[in-house]
Amino acid sequence: MIEAEERIISSEYKVEEKQFETSLRPRFLQEYIGQNKVKENLKIFISAAKARRESLDHVLLYGPPGLGKTTLAHIIANELGSNLRSTSGPAIERPGDLAAILTNLDQHDVLFIDEVHRLNRSVEEILYSAMEDYALDIVVGKGPSARSIRLELPRFTLIGATTRAGRLSSPLRDRFGVISRLQYYQQQDLQTILTRSAAILNIEIEQAGAVEIAKRSRGTPRVANRLLKRVRDYAQVRGNGTISHSVAIEALNMLEVDQYGLDAVDRKLLLMIINKFGGGPVGLDTMAAAISEAPETIGEVYEPFLMQQGFLKRTPRGRMATSFAYDYFGVESKDNSIQKAIWEG
Ligand SMILES: Nc1ncnc2c1ncn2[C@@H]1O[C@H](COP(=O)(O)OP(=O)(O)OP(=O)(O)O)[C@@H](O)[C@H]1O
Ligand SMILES: [Mg+2]
Repeated sequence: MIEAEERIISSEYKVEEKQFETSLRPRFLQEYIGQNKVKENLKIFISAAKARRESLDHVLLYGPPGLGKTTLAHIIANELGSNLRSTSGPAIERPGDLAAILTNLDQHDVLFIDEVHRLNRSVEEILYSAMEDYALDIVVGKGPSARSIRLELPRFTLIGATTRAGRLSSPLRDRFGVISRLQYYQQQDLQTILTRSAAILNIEIEQAGAVEIAKRSRGTPRVANRLLKRVRDYAQVRGNGTISHSVAIEALNMLEVDQYGLDAVDRKLLLMIINKFGGGPVGLDTMAAAISEAPETIGEVYEPFLMQQGFLKRTPRGRMATSFAYDYFGVESKDNSIQKAIWEG
């Protein structure tokens, strides 16, 4: 089984990259590249909140891993000039844990809850009145003498991040005033991110080298930065340290990341659908079993990119390889061969 974490093009966070990621993280909106629509909206909401000396509406950020949700949460707090308290859905085990966090906030603080779709039910319910009324209802005492008291909370801003907006309950989703979906990045934006990262890390990179890495980064800044680091290693050992076009191509080929950003696992998955299942439709569980992977990993990590790039499509009866996928492998697609058979009689 190939673990997602071992893949160089994995968009998922790796603990050992923490320091590296932090050093490359933009701190203000102006340095945050791409996602123009999201940025424009946030800019307006932030200045309006500041002008009125109010807290910013609660913000939900969603989109695939590595696109910059955590980065954006920090930026929002910086732009507001507020403190950021950071936690995550699974870390808040009991309602009391959340109550302790909330009562320790100051006016206009930002509370960031990563993986907000993983809050448990009883914790989530506390959040409803906290978000809506800035109040905490707690029950004191037991039995007949039990009574509920209401604690006032400071006006804070909750920023929730999730890769799975569909997993959020609607009462929770409805309490976010601003809902922003992050998109895969354009190649031009990734190129700018790479140039910026290279400058911070003192890496010599030629424009054509940045273009080549950007092309193969799966629309994801985290992947772009990781590839940059690996290509630099190659440039130092095999070249003169500069990432030129040819060095980038050689390094990326050695890492088996092709010009679409696909790696060996993606190719295996697509070939399996084509060869074993006649191009599909094939169910997620069947697919998962065939390549010994968890269905969730395929659904959340592999598939979104393959679909966005047009290699795979989802139908009511399962996943299907597209004619683009067939062309990629130089295999004739089922549709084409049927068409050909008709034409040729
Ligand atoms: N718009 C951007 N401009 C420049 N760099 C970016 C941008 N977005 C993300 N990055 C870089 O990509 C890395 C990953 O971003 P981040 O950790 O914010 O992603 P995430 O969406 O929170 O991922 P996850 O879903 O895994 O939590 C960061 O180190 C940051 O340097
Ligand atoms: Mg994150």
